[in-house]
Amino acid sequence: MNSNKRPESMQRITTIELANAFIEEQIALVREQVGDKKVLLALSGGVDSSVVAALLIKAIGKQLVCVHVNHGLMRKNESENVVEIFRNQLDANLIYVDATDRFLTLLEGVSDPEKKRKIIGAEFINVFADEARALCGVSFLAQGTIYPDILESVKQAEGKKAVKSHHNVGGLPEDLQFEGLVEPVKLLFKDEVRVVGEALGLPHAMVYRQPFPGPGLGVRCLGAITRDRLHALREADAILREEFDLCGLNEKVWQYFVVVPDIKSVGVKNESRYEGWPAIIRAVNTTDAMTATIEEIPYAVLHRITARITSEVEGINRVLMDLTPKPVGTIEWE
Ligand code: XMP
Repeated sequence: MNSNKRPESMQRITTIELANAFIEEQIALVREQVGDKKVLLALSGGVDSSVVAALLIKAIGKQLVCVHVNHGLMRKNESENVVEIFRNQLDANLIYVDATDRFLTLLEGVSDPEKKRKIIGAEFINVFADEARALCGVSFLAQGTIYPDILESVKQAEGKKAVKSHHNVGGLPEDLQFEGLVEPVKLLFKDEVRVVGEALGLPHAMVYRQPFPGPGLGVRCLGAITRDRLHALREADAILREEFDLCGLNEKVWQYFVVVPDIKSVGVKNESRYEGWPAIIRAVNTTDAMTATIEEIPYAVLHRITARITSEVEGINRVLMDLTPKPVGTIEWE
């Protein structure tokens, strides 16, 4: 399938049987396209790149080279999970790059949200390109492009401006020439990609992972990022996710996370003054992320999360809930 237009006759992939047929068809196409050459993939751990990785491992095994860039803005244990699943369980040829210092150094003192996004996006490409240059004989670039990405780029080509700049690996430097792109899921919608992921045997938590922005926790650690506040955010976010898993809200809420702004308030801990940041909970439901409503979280759950975050996370002394729908607030704060 070389076209970027989904044929009207294409059946929606709703069952494991249909997904298996799709996988077999793609395996044959990919093998025919790349022969015995090598393929490079930026594996973020998101649904799309993970499904592409699993599919290509099946099709071409060690001819696929996956690069996972940890920009230091991942959620707790996220990079570790990617390594565990792909390197240890699926035996992938995976290069893990811990680029935390590169990113956090560049972001030091930068508070403007768009500047932060641009720095993270550009540095991601730099790190990935450095890895690609260091590898010899890679001919193809694989991407987790899905059909909504193609529809979005058509809209942008027609001059419709996005509210925030998103990043991907589409803008690689000119000196990195690939023979071609391998984009096996480019005509699929997200729900279809998930069914394919299940058929490939990827863990449920990975296939149904909630959306996570490319700039990661960088757009949730508001203003200029500091390592201590980023650490507090990561820990608080992990508690929120743990508690949502425990009471089943993970299946009910489309996206939920913690935001930590760069302001401190006065509190009291161990009978002493304790200045800390607030952790802000955002939990939204949506179908297309263009608009979003607020999920009502039972007070008992909120109390438990508040108690845990304020007692377990160094630097946090309050927990707040964001009740703003989209519009007027965007889902992410930056
Ligand atoms: P906003 O904040 O614009 O977010 O209401 C809508 C959805 O997009 C996600 N988001 C991103 N996803 N790269 C992504 O892949 C990005 O740079 C990015 N920024 C926001 C956000 O998490 C929400 O699901």
